[in-house]
Amino acid sequence: MRPIQATIQLAALRHNLALARSHAKKSKVLAVIKANGYGHGMLRVARAVPEADGYAVLGVEEGVALRDAGFGQTILLLEGFFTADEISLVAHHQLVAVVHSEEQLLMLEKAVVPKPIDVFIKLNTGMNRLGLPLARFWAVYDRLKVCKAVRDITLMTHFATADGPEGVAEQLARFNSLTEEISKPKTLANSAAILRYPETHADWIRPGIMLYGATPFADESAAEIGLQAAMTLSSELISVQNLSAGDSVGYGQMFTADKPMSVGVVACGYADGYPRHAPTGTPVMVAGHRTRTLGRVSMDMLCVDLTGIPQAGVGSLVELWGANIPVDEVALAAGTVGYELLCALAPRVPVVEHG
Ligand SMILES: Cc1ncc(COP(=O)(O)O)c(C=O)c1O
Repeated sequence: MRPIQATIQLAALRHNLALARSHAKKSKVLAVIKANGYGHGMLRVARAVPEADGYAVLGVEEGVALRDAGFGQTILLLEGFFTADEISLVAHHQLVAVVHSEEQLLMLEKAVVPKPIDVFIKLNTGMNRLGLPLARFWAVYDRLKVCKAVRDITLMTHFATADGPEGVAEQLARFNSLTEEISKPKTLANSAAILRYPETHADWIRPGIMLYGATPFADESAAEIGLQAAMTLSSELISVQNLSAGDSVGYGQMFTADKPMSVGVVACGYADGYPRHAPTGTPVMVAGHRTRTLGRVSMDMLCVDLTGIPQAGVGSLVELWGANIPVDEVALAAGTVGYELLCALAPRVPVVEHG
């Protein structure tokens, strides 16, 4: 069997959830476990943090899978139902639906359900992706209040720039000015807002990336925040090549040695979820030593610099990302974010749990 594997540290998930809670002691926690728990396994993550007050997922199928696995907490569908016939499933499993559009409101008004459902009204305060325009809020709110298919209402928005210098002030002001008179539960904060803007914590926080031990910020690392990496992607060297000055490595001959050197070949490529755009110089750990990738990442393999690691050979352990090589550093080198790399872990990579 290929030596690649992803190890999920359950203790890190618990630690990171506790850290989110410690930032927002009065808020309940909706652990965001969509996208297969950001690549860590939706049910695995849910089981690792049963103390979460709720879970946020995308589709009804995920919500039903959580109910079938015995989770009794709040389960929020972040985009609500997509078609009217999903409403009966939502009601049957007592899932909670985001309502972000008037189309969804109309579906709810026509629905006949065994039990009414709880909804989160999503307001567009500036992200301009999902959410009701502020001018339509009162009309929709008043209709949802009397809609027979609806029980409780929570008010929600999502920030576009909680992770950047623009912050949340404008969106928060819009949300507050519209909703401050309403004594309904509210939820605004993703990981970045949880960590930097206590004024957004409200009744529910919605941590995603921080649960997995990656940073939402470009200017503050996961370690600086006190997060622990939940996923380690590791493999081994399966070959060593000795290059002479002038020899090149891999497709496109993107790296050429300027002196004799040893190159390790790692059983990990873009078909495992490692980013093909990671250039020469992307950090990697080999036999406990930090080094760099060389040349182009191929489908099943990538190459690493063994200069200064003479003990490295076939079978040496390689960490692609994890406790020693933050996924955020690999992402930065590849021009993306940790979120994308974690979510893109390929199904062919065996996953093992630890702790
Ligand atoms: C509505 C909503 N809330 C919370 C989150 C969690 O965000 P983060 O992973 O940045 O904490 C997401 C993730 O995309 C989201 O879409």
